[in-house]
Amino acid sequence: MNQHRDIFLMCAPEYFEVSYIINPWMEGNVAHGNRANAQGQWQALMHALQQVAQVECMPAVAGVPDMVFTANGGLLLGDQVVLSSFLHVQRQAEEAHFAAWFAARGLRVLHMPHALPFEGAGDALLDRAADLLWFGHGHRSDAACAPLLAELLDIEVQAVKLVDPRFYHLDTCFCPLQGGYLLYYPDAFDTAAQACIAARVPLEKRCAVSREDALNFACNAVNSGEHVFLNHASPALIAQLQQWGFRVHQLALTEFMKAGGAAKCLTLKMNEPRRKAGMPTR
Ligand code: ARG
Repeated sequence: MNQHRDIFLMCAPEYFEVSYIINPWMEGNVAHGNRANAQGQWQALMHALQQVAQVECMPAVAGVPDMVFTANGGLLLGDQVVLSSFLHVQRQAEEAHFAAWFAARGLRVLHMPHALPFEGAGDALLDRAADLLWFGHGHRSDAACAPLLAELLDIEVQAVKLVDPRFYHLDTCFCPLQGGYLLYYPDAFDTAAQACIAARVPLEKRCAVSREDALNFACNAVNSGEHVFLNHASPALIAQLQQWGFRVHQLALTEFMKAGGAAKCLTLKMNEPRRKAGMPTR
């Protein structure tokens, strides 16, 4: 047994539905979901992840249909978690459920001051090579979170501004992979952020995905070791990932895309060890 298996938190879609509109993907989809399909797709993702990682499930709760998107519960680092404070009132009731789950799990739960909007690992993604936290703002999380996260977690934070409402969380258009590789959709970012990403991630380690791949949520991928789980990727993107040494697993998550999420949003990585000082970067 691999002793270094990743641990992912998921929440079953027992009460999942599109019952309000807080992002463009939800438009036209209110009450158009099929819960049985959603359950099947979610289970397929969970079973696929269980082949290579450990999955923990938190109980689903009626009335908070988007709680399946556990990535938005908070941002974990070591034994600390910065609890999310959701921008939209429709998701704010999730905060207490996530807080209770994290505390019961033995994590130290930290809060953003004055409930500044912050949507957890939806907008804050750890680089997989450097000791760096990428932070997306412009839609959900407030730009003012960046220095606060740096202070709370004692980590360098690189803020990047998101400009396309369809890519309203950083994890919809940006995916750091093991080894320092990166999938991203440049048009989702303002020009300063595009330049910053290009400056910080070497060309041979980053892949600008096509518009089609981006709209298929290819950047919303779960990475565990050499495995990458995603809704759908073009042959060209699969070839690129394989060339980097990854094994791609495509799992249809169309029911969740009606709510604006896919593989990565449905998981929260629970093991994010702190890097030791002096560890090599790229
Ligand atoms: N309907 C949810 C929302 O708009 C989807 C969240 C997707 N999560 C993510 N990490 N991108 O908040």
